[in-house]
Amino acid sequence: MTARHSVRRYADTPVPAAIRDELIAEAARCNADSGLNIHVQFDEPAGFSGLLPHYGSFRGVRNYLALIGHTGTPLDTPAGYYGERLVLLAQHLGLNSCWAGLTYNKRQVRTLLAADEQLALVVALGYGESQGKPHKSKPIDKLGRTRDGGPWPDWFRAGVEAAALAPTAINQQTFSFELVGDEVHAHRGRGSYAAVDLGIVSYHFEIGADNADWRWADSLVTSDETV
Ligand SMILES: Cc1cc2nc3c(=O)[nH]c(=O)nc-3n(C[C@H](O)[C@H](O)[C@H](O)COP(=O)(O)O)c2cc1C
Repeated sequence: MTARHSVRRYADTPVPAAIRDELIAEAARCNADSGLNIHVQFDEPAGFSGLLPHYGSFRGVRNYLALIGHTGTPLDTPAGYYGERLVLLAQHLGLNSCWAGLTYNKRQVRTLLAADEQLALVVALGYGESQGKPHKSKPIDKLGRTRDGGPWPDWFRAGVEAAALAPTAINQQTFSFELVGDEVHAHRGRGSYAAVDLGIVSYHFEIGADNADWRWADSLVTSDETV
């Protein structure tokens, strides 16, 4: 989580077969858990070809995740949660990444869709020309609170700190986590892609808070307005 930063310029280096296999296997597990149909595309530069990716400053993207779900089922928040699970595995395997809601070739990626499927967004993957750099973050006390105003348990602080490292659309960080007893409420904020952001930051929160004695107040998808 600390090493991951958005990278938009990529080298030509192909992703080795062993790393492809790990990502494909993890995507299959994510799909089994979530009902999503995430595709991992390798050697497919068309997904980021054209003017929009260029204006979005992407260069040399040859691999990407297409975050796809079935029509009429929760899409954005699960796409954020499981997409970030794959992003952090990719980072662990030495790859760089960048989420893309707008600046990719949507017409091209939509050719992957079956009739009853919808596309949330995509994530560029590959060997970056750089490792990117840390984003500016809101102060931790703007991203979390306890309902009674009491002190934060260590695990809650660790969860919020992990969420602060997460990517959000235009680095908006409009989410917040609220602790009530041993339950954590994940609030999505305003802004485009806030439902995707909520899934992403919730995955980071779980890693930071680890297996301390707490639980989510709501299932992740209840806050997803694109159901
Ligand atoms: C849901 C979502 C959509 C995004 N869409 C784009 C995009 O269309 N184009 C782009 O260049 N970056 C996009 N980003 C990357 C963000 O700008 C980036 O994550 C944010 O500035 C924080 O920086 P970091 O990822 O380096 O921590 C998106 C990120 C998220 C989470």
